[in-house]
Amino acid sequence: MLVTGGAGFIGANFVHYTLNHKPEFEVTVIDKLTYAGNPDNLKSILDRVNFVTGDICDRELMDKLVAETDIVVHFAAESHNDNSLRNPWPFVETNIIGTYNILEAVRKHDKRLHHISTDEVFGDLELDDPNRFTEETPYNPSSPYSSTKAGSDHLVRAWIRSFGIKATISNCSNNYGPYQHIEKFIPRQITNILSDIKPKLYGTGEQVRDWIHVDDHNSAVHLIIEKGKLGDTYIIGADNDHVNNKAVIELICELMGKGADWYEHVNDRPGHDMRYAMNSTKLRTELGWQPQYTDQGGMREGLQATIDWYSENDEWWQAEKAKVEAKYAEQGQ
Ligand code: NAD
Ligand code: TYD
Repeated sequence: MLVTGGAGFIGANFVHYTLNHKPEFEVTVIDKLTYAGNPDNLKSILDRVNFVTGDICDRELMDKLVAETDIVVHFAAESHNDNSLRNPWPFVETNIIGTYNILEAVRKHDKRLHHISTDEVFGDLELDDPNRFTEETPYNPSSPYSSTKAGSDHLVRAWIRSFGIKATISNCSNNYGPYQHIEKFIPRQITNILSDIKPKLYGTGEQVRDWIHVDDHNSAVHLIIEKGKLGDTYIIGADNDHVNNKAVIELICELMGKGADWYEHVNDRPGHDMRYAMNSTKLRTELGWQPQYTDQGGMREGLQATIDWYSENDEWWQAEKAKVEAKYAEQGQ
C-alpha cells in the first residue's frame, strides 16, 4: 500500500491504524514533509514502514512508486483554509497537479486508488437548514482549499468515467485526534490553554462542523478499500452536526478546568462556511460502518483523549506554538 501524505495528521493516524488492524499490508509512505508533515508522527513504527521523502508533483517519482504498489491511498494535500486565503498557489499545485500525477500513474499501471476528500467541496448549509450532504449533493466550494479539493475530486471522477480506473472517493467531515497540526481549531485551543493563552473563537462561533474522531474516519477508509464499489463515492460522518464552534470551545474549557467563558472572540474568517452536516447512510447500510466515538453529548470522550494526548506530548508542539500564533495575530485572529 502506498500512502501519500502519511506524515500528516490523518495519514499518520491511518498508517498506525493499518499496522495495528491490517498487518497484511506492507506500507510505503510518500510525503514532502511540508510544515504540516512530521516524521515523528511515525517514530514508533518507522522500522515497519518504507518512508520516501518526496513530492506528489514529481511525476517520475509517482510513476515509479505507483508501479511498485497494489493500492494507493491518497491523503497528501495542502489542507488549511486560512493558509489558502493567504496564498492559494501551493493548494493548486499539490491538490490538483499532484492528484493528476497520481491518476496518470494509476491509469498507466492499472492500480487501485482511494482518494481522500472533504465535505467542504459541497460548500455550506444555512444554520437553520436541516438537510445534510449526501453523495448526490452538487459541488459548490467556497475557499481556495475547498475548490482545489473539489478540482481533485472531479479529476478522479473523470478518470473513472473516461479511463475506467479502479478508484473510490470518500468525503469526510472535520477530523480531530492526536497528531493534528496546532494551526487547526481543536488543537489550537487545547494548546492555547496549555500555554495559558485564551482560546480564540472566530466571529460569533455559531458555525457548525460535523466533528469525527480520526480513527472513525480511518476505519471507514479501510472498509471502503475492502468492500467499496469501484467508481463510487462515500460520505463519512459521525452525526455530530449539532455542536457549534462556541460549544466546542466551551467544552474544551470545561474539560481543561477553565470557566466555560475563558475564551475570546477574534476576527472572523472571510467567506466563512456556516454549517457542514453529513448523511453517511450509504456507508452505514451498504458497507455496515459504525463510528466508535458516538457519545451524542458532544464529543466528550474523544476530546478528553485528545486533550490528554496534547498534554502528554508537549515536545511535539511546543516549538511551533509561538510561530503559529504570530501568524494568526497578524490577522487579528
Ligand atoms: P495535513 O495538512 O495534516 O497533512 C498533509 C500531509 O501531506 C503532510 O504530511 C504534508 O507534508 C503532505 N504533503 C503536502 N503537500 C505534499 C506534496 N506536494 N507531496 C507529498 N506530500 C505532501 O492534512 P490532514 O488534515 O491530515 O488531511 C489529509 C487529507 O484528508 C487531505 O486530503 C484533506 O483534504 C483530507 N481531509 C481532511 C479533513 C480534516 O479535518 N483534517 C477532513 C476531511 C478530509
Ligand atoms: P478549522 O480547524 O480550520 O477547519 P475547517 O476550516 O476545515 O472547518 O476550523 C474549524 C472551525 O473553527 C471553522 O469554523 C473555523 C473555526 N476556528 C475558530 O473559531 N478559531 C480558530 O482559532 C480556528 C483555527 C478555527
